[in-house]
Amino acid sequence: MLRWEIKEMRRDHLKQVMEIERKSFPTPWTRGMFLYELTSPKSFNFVATPLMEEEKLVLGYIIFWMAKGEVHILNLATHPSFCRLGIAYSLILFALDFSYKKGGILYILEVRQGNHAALNLYRKVGFAPWGIKKRYYPDTGEDAIIMRLFFGDRTHGQDADGQPHLP
Ligand SMILES: CC(C)(COP(=O)(O)OP(=O)(O)OC[C@H]1O[C@@H](n2cnc3c(N)ncnc32)[C@H](O)[C@@H]1OP(=O)(O)O)[C@@H](O)C(=O)NCCC(=O)NCCS
Repeated sequence: MLRWEIKEMRRDHLKQVMEIERKSFPTPWTRGMFLYELTSPKSFNFVATPLMEEEKLVLGYIIFWMAKGEVHILNLATHPSFCRLGIAYSLILFALDFSYKKGGILYILEVRQGNHAALNLYRKVGFAPWGIKKRYYPDTGEDAIIMRLFFGDRTHGQDADGQPHLP
């Protein structure tokens, strides 16, 4: 069974992160965008890597900003060969707990209207639709669904990542 840990993203993860990014999104982030996040004080960047073997393999990643109790999830993807194993779920749970400990209360993200996998994932964590940005994505013309979660509304305590989770 594949087991993984979550740790801070480093520059030497970027090659693999970019490969996942290119496979995952119609308009992928550039290397410059990732480098910017790695140096921004308000940005938090984490990768999931296998425990023990092939520690350098990147299974997935999450990037979020945090300011004054608000947490914005900016980017999240799982390597296509490792989908449906709970990796993205554990990355989000990790981000929620990490930011809660630093004062995060309100969590916000945007997702393409047609991205059913991501919509299901966010609903599973406890996010609920909050608004729509019409034709927000210029590459496909899709609307963005804005979703939000107040930490106190969390209903799930499953610890797919083996991390302790606050109530
Ligand atoms: C969306 C994505 C991050 C999910 O990653 P993942 O590691 O496979 O997700 P998990 O295994 O943690 O799945 C957790 C839940 O998400 C939902 N989900 C994940 N993939 C799904 C799919 N293909 N179809 C329907 N629901 C899906 C399910 O509710 C799942 O729970 P379940 O397995 O108990 O049914 C991944 O498909 C991905 O990288 N997609 C491309 C990038 C992307 O869309 N990122 C989000 C941008 S907003």
